[in-house]
Amino acid sequence: MRKPFVAGNWKMNKTVKESLALVRDLLPGMEAVTGVEKVLCPPFPSLFAVSTLISGLDIGLGAQNMHWEASGAYTGEVSANMIKELCQYVIIGHSERRQYFAETDQTVNRKVKAALSAELIPIVCVGETLEQKQAGQTAGVVIRQVRDGLQGLTSVEASRIVIAYEPVWAIGTGLASGGQDANDVVKDMIRPTLASLFGENIAQAVRVLYGGSVTGKNAAEFFNQSDIDGALVGGASLKVDDFLQIIKAALK
Ligand code: PGA
Repeated sequence: MRKPFVAGNWKMNKTVKESLALVRDLLPGMEAVTGVEKVLCPPFPSLFAVSTLISGLDIGLGAQNMHWEASGAYTGEVSANMIKELCQYVIIGHSERRQYFAETDQTVNRKVKAALSAELIPIVCVGETLEQKQAGQTAGVVIRQVRDGLQGLTSVEASRIVIAYEPVWAIGTGLASGGQDANDVVKDMIRPTLASLFGENIAQAVRVLYGGSVTGKNAAEFFNQSDIDGALVGGASLKVDDFLQIIKAALK
């Protein structure tokens, strides 16, 4: 049994004050839903403040990125150990990081390993661009991102990760994938790749989320699929009613 999982990726939105206000508004509704792993991923400056608000509650905290080195002369970067004091999760390899900050499967792999060593749970993002989809390259791209991003992990490490399938063309566009189409990618490409790397049991145990224009309205379409275990939510995670509706929908 894979526990449903919903994470809100706030991206570069909300000051510390605004973050606290949003979390206060979300708390009653989020606390009311049990049986779903609920995670908030605010920007770095808000992590400490939000961690104090949700301390002791059944709500997880995640960072949106990290560096793979433990410490040192990397101006502007943040390491797993720094995140670890506040968070349980970290998003790695989001398509915006790949697109605007030159992240590759190799840097994703280093970050995933560093996160796991610090006992953080990486939420590893994969997904094809519109160009790649139109060129019929979805399988090739997604399989390569999973294989190279997770290269060298032990089965025990692999069993702890969460994967988010986020077709790039669906992110922030309002053009969500169809539920069935997203499920096909997870079932026929992502889980078989996990099985070939780590065995069938791990492939069936790892949570795989869908991300890309998930809203309160369309969330159930994804959660009703056989192989989708939750959502990584961007824009709608900043809207109280929408995000709460998505969390409730995850309780299939
Ligand atoms: P979106 O973003 O829900 O705004 O499409 C999803 C994501 O980037 O994780």
